[in-house]
Amino acid sequence: MALLFCGLLVLLSGVDPAQTLLITDMEYGGVPLWVDRLQGEPSVLSLHGRMDPSWFRANNPQSCPEECVCPIQWPTSLYCDHRGLKNIPEMMPNETQYLFLQGNNISSLSSSILANITGLRWLIIDRNQLQSDMLEQASLQNQTQLWYFFANHNQLTSVPSALPAGLRQLRLAYNRISSISPDAFQNLNDLTLLLLQGNKLQIIAEGDLKGLLSLKLLDLSDNFFSAVPKHLPPSVQQLYLSNNTLSGLDEDSFVALLNLKYLRLSHCHLQSPSLHPHVFNLSSLVELDLAYNKLTSVPTVPTTLQYLYMEANYIQDFNVTSFCRDIGPLSYSRIRILRLDGNRMTYHQLPPDWVYCLRVLQKIYI
Ligand SMILES: *[C@@H]1O[C@H](CO)[C@@H](O)[C@H](O)[C@H]1NC(C)=O
Ligand SMILES: *[C@@H]1O[C@H](CO)[C@@H](O)[C@H](O)[C@H]1NC(C)=O
Ligand SMILES: *[C@@H]1O[C@H](CO)[C@@H](O)[C@H](O)[C@H]1NC(C)=O
Ligand SMILES: *[C@@H]1O[C@H](CO)[C@@H](O)[C@H](O)[C@H]1NC(C)=O
Ligand SMILES: *[C@@H]1O[C@H](CO)[C@@H](O)[C@H](O)[C@H]1NC(C)=O
Ligand SMILES: *[C@@H]1O[C@H](CO)[C@@H](O)[C@H](O)[C@H]1NC(C)=O
Ligand SMILES: *[C@@H]1O[C@H](CO)[C@@H](O)[C@H](O)[C@H]1NC(C)=O
Repeated sequence: MALLFCGLLVLLSGVDPAQTLLITDMEYGGVPLWVDRLQGEPSVLSLHGRMDPSWFRANNPQSCPEECVCPIQWPTSLYCDHRGLKNIPEMMPNETQYLFLQGNNISSLSSSILANITGLRWLIIDRNQLQSDMLEQASLQNQTQLWYFFANHNQLTSVPSALPAGLRQLRLAYNRISSISPDAFQNLNDLTLLLLQGNKLQIIAEGDLKGLLSLKLLDLSDNFFSAVPKHLPPSVQQLYLSNNTLSGLDEDSFVALLNLKYLRLSHCHLQSPSLHPHVFNLSSLVELDLAYNKLTSVPTVPTTLQYLYMEANYIQDFNVTSFCRDIGPLSYSRIRILRLDGNRMTYHQLPPDWVYCLRVLQKIYI
């Protein structure tokens, strides 16, 4: 939400220091799409199709499949989205780099259909009927320039294998994925974002995520995990596991994740007795979301933590030792925002010494 908000500000103010723009559309699996104009990526205006397609057709000398729109000012992007297509169009211009196919009825991806296109950078095929057995292994193999492959809201049952090694973002949220083939990620050394929320994953086996050396954001929310998966890439900074029914958290649940900054565990049926007291002893942690669980007390969190969300739990007691083991000139909690609303405690229950510990607090909700 914070990301979204700051993107809106950028849009409204017209100031664009990083030369990037944000599409405020959440169609792309819950993480907004950043557009890098320096890379020649198509702009918000063209994405939202605000210009008359027939004008493009009349003025564009380049060949364009009947089913698509080929904007004259972005000859490298091809818009074939939201047209009820059952198949990917043939005869797409060979210079296509940004291919938009979202919101159709496409179930297959054959290896020949993209054979004439050699420089594909984005393939956006969210909200279709893609099936794992109709996605040919070789279909994307030769797309060495492909950075983004988005296939959220399809019918895939496994993570496609033979994905091209240069991939930066893979979005497969809201499919029916229950397994990851052992080598699926082996070559994806540059992948930074992997969305797998809203699938049917129960476990991640050792080796499943092997190869993901640069992964920063991993979303595993809305799956069927009963424990925090082991063998996650140590580079991960944002780990989202909300809405899984976790039986508890062990002392070493996150211990290998030395770069973990943002951890989301809301809606996980967590109970205080099944949380190891030191599970959140992670000095890299900045934000921790434990909202909508069944916790009766605030767990011990590192003094470096800045944002703690614990709304809608069953918290009755507040003990300053959760935040500060001792209090001194340099020993205090860095918490800025603390949410304790929707619990079983009131403001009057805060002990008198809490202000010495929560010294930089900006907002508290009780
Ligand atoms: C997809 O196809 C089904 C029938 O095969 C049809 O009912 C549905 O309306 C189609 N959806 C779109 C978006 O065209
Ligand atoms: C690829 O190009 C060849 C030669 O122009 C053409 O015959 C063929 O139909 C094209 N394939 C696709 C999938 O567009
Ligand atoms: C694209 O196709 C045109 C003719 O259809 C051809 O002249 C050109 O070399 C092709 N470009 C690439 C990059 O394949
Ligand atoms: C990939 O490239 C190789 C070598 O250029 C070629 O033999 C093969 O047919 C290509 N595969 C596809 C699916 O286009
Ligand atoms: C949690 O997951 C279930 C099933 O995956 C889904 O139906 C539900 O909407 C999700 N709830 C939230 C709060 O995300
Ligand atoms: C917390 O982690 C630090 C290292 O990051 C370690 O020195 C310390 O013993 C741990 N504390 C507990 C209570 O586990
Ligand atoms: C707070 O916790 C500490 C250590 O767990 C304990 O010694 C102390 O009695 C607790 N204080 C209250 C008011 O419960």
